[in-house]
Amino acid sequence: MSASRGGFNSSIGFIMAAAGSAVGLGNIWGFPTQTASNGGAAFVLVYLVLAFFLAYPAFMAELLIGRYGQANAVTSMQKVARTSWQKRFGFAVGFGGVLCAALILSFYAIIAGWMMSYAVEPLAKLASFTDEAKWLITHTLPRNILFTTLFIGLTILIIRRGVEQGIEKWSKRLMPMLIILLILLIAYVFTLNGAQAGFAAYLNPDISRVFDADLLISALGQAFFSLSLGTSVMIIYGSYIAKKENLVSLGAQVTLIDVSIAFLAGLLIIPAMYVAQAQGVAIFAEDGSLISGSSLVFTVLPALFLNMGAVGLFVAFGFFVLMTIAALTSSISMLEGPVSFVVERHNIARKKATTYIGVAILLLSIIIVINLEWMLDFIAILSTQYGQPLIAMFCCIFVGWIWHRNDILTEIKQGNSEVESSLFWKIWPWYVKFVCPTAIALVFIHSL
Ligand code: TRP
Repeated sequence: MSASRGGFNSSIGFIMAAAGSAVGLGNIWGFPTQTASNGGAAFVLVYLVLAFFLAYPAFMAELLIGRYGQANAVTSMQKVARTSWQKRFGFAVGFGGVLCAALILSFYAIIAGWMMSYAVEPLAKLASFTDEAKWLITHTLPRNILFTTLFIGLTILIIRRGVEQGIEKWSKRLMPMLIILLILLIAYVFTLNGAQAGFAAYLNPDISRVFDADLLISALGQAFFSLSLGTSVMIIYGSYIAKKENLVSLGAQVTLIDVSIAFLAGLLIIPAMYVAQAQGVAIFAEDGSLISGSSLVFTVLPALFLNMGAVGLFVAFGFFVLMTIAALTSSISMLEGPVSFVVERHNIARKKATTYIGVAILLLSIIIVINLEWMLDFIAILSTQYGQPLIAMFCCIFVGWIWHRNDILTEIKQGNSEVESSLFWKIWPWYVKFVCPTAIALVFIHSL
């Protein structure tokens, strides 16, 4: 690894960074509500199986491309390619991923900005700034612009510092904080009236729904979104892993952490909703499904915190700090995709590149904020429902059909000399070649 590129100093550094990318608003907000609306534990069960049998193999494909290429997503893809059409294809897929990461950041930062302003609100209340507190939780253009800018500013500050001092150091600080906060909140909610009903709703599987097509599709989509696949991010993180590390087990550990935190988040959110119900807050929408999406996080939960009185201020603060941290460890990975591309392909210094790209993405965010009604959904759907699955599928096709099996084996053997005789090597090549692209294509077609 060239000294100037940087890389993760330790395997735990990589695990925290990659898990930080994977664990985000999707885990803490998306997963619990999908679970609630898809038959409770049946969804959890299907999600677990799909995460390990489909998302993990695709995740390994992206990590391997990166570690082999030792470069940004575009260059790494091109290194795998041999003929000129393959190189063009590689460019398109790599660049598509970089673009997708930038687009995701542009809307993710807005939502993360809301989390930040909701985290500041209890502090303002404690300090008796009542009007300011109210302003913080009222959706207005100036507030949205201010907090989106603050959030992207934080992301820029971390990425400017590079891989070890920025991404690795901050992921190692923030991820343990996130896990501790999550567990404390679960423990607290557990003691409240109504929580039991929530646990039951979350943990009782409705087995008849396990083979429900909609459930399968949602679970797979969620698994791919959650592992940040198809956005160049895992390729670039893979490129920062030392050759002596065992990729097969590192990838599995990251998948396990991602899945576990999603599961834990369910233990917090679903019981919290039932506690809110016990206190008279409406938690079911008109069609009988649990309220999800933004009204869950910005209406149901705040109503619950309000009912808790003074303790509620601390719980609200803890919850929204948790959300902000989860979003931040994801957003730094989103910015790293485009930044590493520009630094390495266009020879621009990291600090400068980070600021320019960060500001460009901020401008896009501001355009979205101004046209919030239609643009937020539009960019989110474009990048996560079209971009991510398609690019993830092409990465699998690249590894399965273009990259020579023996070259893959040579790469994967570094740090894992026995891999050739392992179960992983017996199954995985077939998975990336046939199963993953087909499954992703099916999900994609169905989602249209
Ligand atoms: N995995 C993140 C989450 O669960 C979301 C995400 C999707 C993401 N694509 C990404 C994060 C690309 C970083 C990079 O919230």
